Amino acid sequence: MKNTEPTIFFDGKEKIFYLENEKITCAFWIDPCGTLQTLYFGEKVGHDLIPVVPKAPGQHAVTRKKDGYSCDPSLISAAVHTSFGGDSFEPSLSVVLPDGARRLDLICVSHREAPKSRLAGLPSVSGGKSLLFELMDPAVPAISVTLSFSIQAGQSAVESSVLIRNCGKEPVTLTRAYSFSLQIPAGEWDTVVLHGQHAQECQIDRRPLSFGLFSVGTRRGISSSSMNPFLALCENAATETSGRVYAAALVYSGSHVLSAEKMPSGNVRFQGGVQDGEFTWKLDPGEAFQTPEAVLCFSSDGLGGMSRAFHDLFRAHLIPQRRVSSPRPVVFNNWEGTHFTFNGEKLRAMADSVAGTGIDTFVLDDGWFGKRNDSTSGLGDWFTNEEKLGGPLSDLVEYVHQKGMKFGLWFEPEMISRDSDLFRAHPDWVLREPHHEPVESRNQWVLDLGRAEVRACIADRVNRILAENRIDYVKWDMNRDLAEGYSSVLPPERQGETFHRYVLGLYDLLDRVVNANPDVFFEGCSSGGCRFDAGMLAYFPQIWASDNTDAYSRTRIQYGTSLVYPPSSISCHVSSSPNASYGSHFVPFASRASLAQFGATGYEFDPTKLPEQDLASISGQIETYRGDEDLILNGDLYRLLSPFEGEFFAVMNVSRDRRRARLLVFRRLRYANVPLTRASLQGLDPELDYDCAELGGRFSGATLMRFGVPLRLSGEDGAALVLHFRAVN
Ligand code: DGJ
Repeated sequence: MKNTEPTIFFDGKEKIFYLENEKITCAFWIDPCGTLQTLYFGEKVGHDLIPVVPKAPGQHAVTRKKDGYSCDPSLISAAVHTSFGGDSFEPSLSVVLPDGARRLDLICVSHREAPKSRLAGLPSVSGGKSLLFELMDPAVPAISVTLSFSIQAGQSAVESSVLIRNCGKEPVTLTRAYSFSLQIPAGEWDTVVLHGQHAQECQIDRRPLSFGLFSVGTRRGISSSSMNPFLALCENAATETSGRVYAAALVYSGSHVLSAEKMPSGNVRFQGGVQDGEFTWKLDPGEAFQTPEAVLCFSSDGLGGMSRAFHDLFRAHLIPQRRVSSPRPVVFNNWEGTHFTFNGEKLRAMADSVAGTGIDTFVLDDGWFGKRNDSTSGLGDWFTNEEKLGGPLSDLVEYVHQKGMKFGLWFEPEMISRDSDLFRAHPDWVLREPHHEPVESRNQWVLDLGRAEVRACIADRVNRILAENRIDYVKWDMNRDLAEGYSSVLPPERQGETFHRYVLGLYDLLDRVVNANPDVFFEGCSSGGCRFDAGMLAYFPQIWASDNTDAYSRTRIQYGTSLVYPPSSISCHVSSSPNASYGSHFVPFASRASLAQFGATGYEFDPTKLPEQDLASISGQIETYRGDEDLILNGDLYRLLSPFEGEFFAVMNVSRDRRRARLLVFRRLRYANVPLTRASLQGLDPELDYDCAELGGRFSGATLMRFGVPLRLSGEDGAALVLHFRAVN
């Protein structure tokens, strides 16, 4: 299907706006009282929608009445829900006015369309068209609310964000400012979330939505592994391949909330944004607050369709375009091989071992700077520890470059150690409550990135190291929660802004470092995948998915992460087995490599101790990866077998023209009488014939998808199988 520009159509008679592309429609209705309602979101429909006014029988509060039209504001699908105007369910916007009043009866006063523009201070999906609505309450002219809905050609998603402005003469306070509010029709819905913890990120949890409020999120100051900023509502009967799914992912890296409230009517109010538990935001006259963006996605092809919709949008309109589809560095990282215990000689020996294998980037992880030989010191002192490296960093970089590899370096720019020169010089730069010792986590504290002078110092230090040492790649790590939402430079009434100001400061710091070094490849990390979100993807084409590199555990982590984020963004390494930190099972080296080729691949162990035959096999593995890389980075992902449901993990990457495909199967544990002997492929063209070299035959797409392919796996634990398909006619 050819993608055409998205359009906005206004039916003036019915007062309905259609924001649409060739796949989806998002329709808004201005009701007779002037309320802006989201009338429809889903698969494309005609310009013939008829607004249905929910009946408000009996005791319902009817505060919206005009010309024979009357409604209970709780029942309608308002694009913004506010409190105290008769709506007794969760609001999406709460403003405290100077006199303590909180009711806002918003009506739509104008609309306009515009090319999509960047959000002030926040990452956002780019391109496409926006439809903007201006809302006001005639009784409270101090507040103006601008809703923005955007759509791109060919995508099954819209983006929603809200701007709240104080047009009055006195300060007002926001206590909630969500990014979207959408009503899902009554029905039997399941919630799907990605929960987890360190070393166990992105675990899928699906359960029926019952009446009342279902709310997920985090107050940890970072998007976190506890709850990824994503929530899907899928039809009870939906599968990977069929059924309706509505899903939201926030383009935001801080504390967040997403909720689904099944109301007595059966309708579901789906909304979310910045977590409001600790949040307040004071708006002085003339000031505005911009919410982060929510990506709202619709699929009628089940969870698989939802994932492909997110992947397509993020790859085409969010992830840095100069990196997203081009070949990735295949890195060797020293962390799991040495942790903090290394010197220049050891690093050179490691570089000698991996040179010539096809690994093209040597990454020096934590411990190269300050006086850092364990996690208790040095963060913030971004100066080379020449004593440890046995000379200047530039000498080591030169050594690695001479070996034909690029050089990568680890930073944790947002942190400070108690034992650091930075802390001794600036003790007040720590984010901390005034009456207590700051909360320590991994022996470190968090810098107050809300402060411009802190960001300027860190950007300068990091940029200096990059410029002076010809660094090609950076791993940007972040190893703890924020814990304390208190900044020593904010007045008491603004302390509730600290967490969000931190996130805004972080994006500014990333602009100054990542965007200021376009030739450096940046990978994100946060104790593994503890900050894997769409906000980070606007800066990092790939993110380290987990510190848990045990292949058995990685099946679930990578499978779960792919629910929202494309394989190209998921960084996966081959490590030792049984993995020293997290593994109890031995997985063959070749299988570990296959599983690590689910996304952007790399290696992480002590290569000087690796069995000779494993080391020798790396070049062949990388050759396979390079051959498949275009499919992995740019193809469509189909999930066939879920490691959450059994011992098998199976996915496919299919080229956009459906002429090439790769099947990757991994069986976690061998078990007796395995009933599963074949897998039905997805995403192929049933009319085409495909050659499969590994199976030694030619098969029709119809056969491959309906009968399937045999799963001829070896008998050991952690057996893997990779099959390639190429269309011949
Ligand atoms: C956490 C990361 O996830 C690891 O890969 C490693 O970089 C350590 N931090 C270093 O402290």
